[in-house]
Amino acid sequence: MELAQLMRDRRSVHRFEPKEVPVDLVLELLDTAVWVPNYHMTQPWRFIVSCGVGKRRMAEAVRGMKERKETDPAKRQAAGQRFYDKIMAIPMIITVVMAEDANLIVREEDYASTSCVIQNFGLLAWERGIGLVWETYPWLLEPAFREAMDIRPGEKVIGNLHVGYPAQIPAAQPRIPAIERVTIYG
Ligand SMILES: Cc1cc2nc3c(=O)[nH]c(=O)nc-3n(C[C@H](O)[C@H](O)[C@H](O)COP(=O)(O)O)c2cc1C
Repeated sequence: MELAQLMRDRRSVHRFEPKEVPVDLVLELLDTAVWVPNYHMTQPWRFIVSCGVGKRRMAEAVRGMKERKETDPAKRQAAGQRFYDKIMAIPMIITVVMAEDANLIVREEDYASTSCVIQNFGLLAWERGIGLVWETYPWLLEPAFREAMDIRPGEKVIGNLHVGYPAQIPAAQPRIPAIERVTIYG
């Protein structure tokens, strides 16, 4: 597909077919996706790919977090189980992690570069019929999640990418034409 059309057609996908995404393909796409501009070439990212029974590690951590948050003992188990089941139903989750530089400017530039990697990956995946959504739910910051996923001190979780073959493609949300946001000094 033509690149411009691919960019316009890509959607964030929330509902997936119950079908595994080939890990080899994802690794191939990530290896292309990392060809982003990156000032100082810090290449601060790493990716934790959870699929199949490998999702249990994250699902169990989330179940524990949700159970601890639920104040009504009668609802506790169901609250945790709901999130466990949600995680297990996602075909693949890629946790994108970034090494946080001590220098704020480098850190911001690194976040920009890592975001470019995610967008590259999303477009490459879309070209292969695979959808994803970039999720930033608050529990990505929780110690229980970090511990379960072996996120080290000095690393920031940029997001969880829910990846899979789309069961439903959401309608496009209109964009403000760029021309309305452009200043030209000609
Ligand atoms: C940094 C970032 C964080 C996001 N976090 C979430 C999220 O937590 N939950 C969610 O449903 N979508 C999230 N999204 C996806 C946006 O909601 C989505 O891109 C937007 O609604 C436009 O839809 P589209 O991607 O289909 O064009 C995030 C996107 C970005 C770039």
